[in-house]
Amino acid sequence: MTDSSIVCNYKLQGKVAIITGGASGIGEATTRLFAQHGVRMVVIADIQDQLGHQVAASIGIDKCSYVHCDVTDEDQTILEFDISRFEKVLATNSRGMALCVKHAARVMVEGGVRGSIICTGSVAASHGMKRYTDYCMLKHAVLGLVRSASMLLGAHGIRVNCVSPSAVATPISSKASGMDAEQLGKIFERFTSLKEVLLKVEHVANAVLFLASDDSGFVNGLDLNVDGGHQGNS
Ligand SMILES: NC(=O)c1ccc[n+]([C@@H]2O[C@H](COP(=O)([O-])OP(=O)(O)OC[C@H]3O[C@@H](n4cnc5c(N)ncnc54)[C@H](O)[C@@H]3O)[C@@H](O)[C@H]2O)c1
Repeated sequence: MTDSSIVCNYKLQGKVAIITGGASGIGEATTRLFAQHGVRMVVIADIQDQLGHQVAASIGIDKCSYVHCDVTDEDQTILEFDISRFEKVLATNSRGMALCVKHAARVMVEGGVRGSIICTGSVAASHGMKRYTDYCMLKHAVLGLVRSASMLLGAHGIRVNCVSPSAVATPISSKASGMDAEQLGKIFERFTSLKEVLLKVEHVANAVLFLASDDSGFVNGLDLNVDGGHQGNS
């Protein structure tokens, strides 16, 4: 995309966005894309302080800032069977997400803001998995949250949707597997029916941009799969 096409095609002109997990991976790519689309401010809410500050500084403090926010800690949310692993994943992926939606919605309703809330699901939200049952269960819960919240908040002009990527190389998947992006890409090839196209964080960020912008003004309660036709055969 050239600079001139961006200038003609701002999709988030004057809007404010908060991106939890915006310091890395899909969240970082989304933060960078939003910053190119005329946002008044995009706020990274994350627990990786050094990285978050670095990403914000590289974008420019006039349009991007960083706040420390642990989504598992309700007091810190700026808006209002390995059971220990399950509880950890639960804390971030379900409880933390529900807190973010709750507090974001409260602030938006009180302020009369007709905005857009976008959650991150996964293909694991709508398919069974042979491994990672805990992750799969909790991602299914994301869909329940999105579908219920979209019905309840629609009355206030607030849309709630979800993006569901298939496997994509990010710092967390590299760390977990000990493989770099290229090695992961070779494995992830089998999770798509689109030949010679690998899922990149930018593909996911573009889907988030669509749901954040007025282009999706009548889209509510959607689980937007960004999976190249993946059929859940993991
Ligand atoms: N990478 C994949 O293959 C893939 C596939 C489907 C769905 N997803 C989902 O996408 C989302 C982002 O994953 P990613 O791959 O970009 O991972 P990532 O590790 O690159 O980024 C996650 C970010 O979230 C932050 N974070 C973690 N715990 C937090 C907390 N308690 N409070 C605030 N921030 C916190 C981390 O510091 C990090 O910056 C996750 O919900 C993941 O389940 C990822």
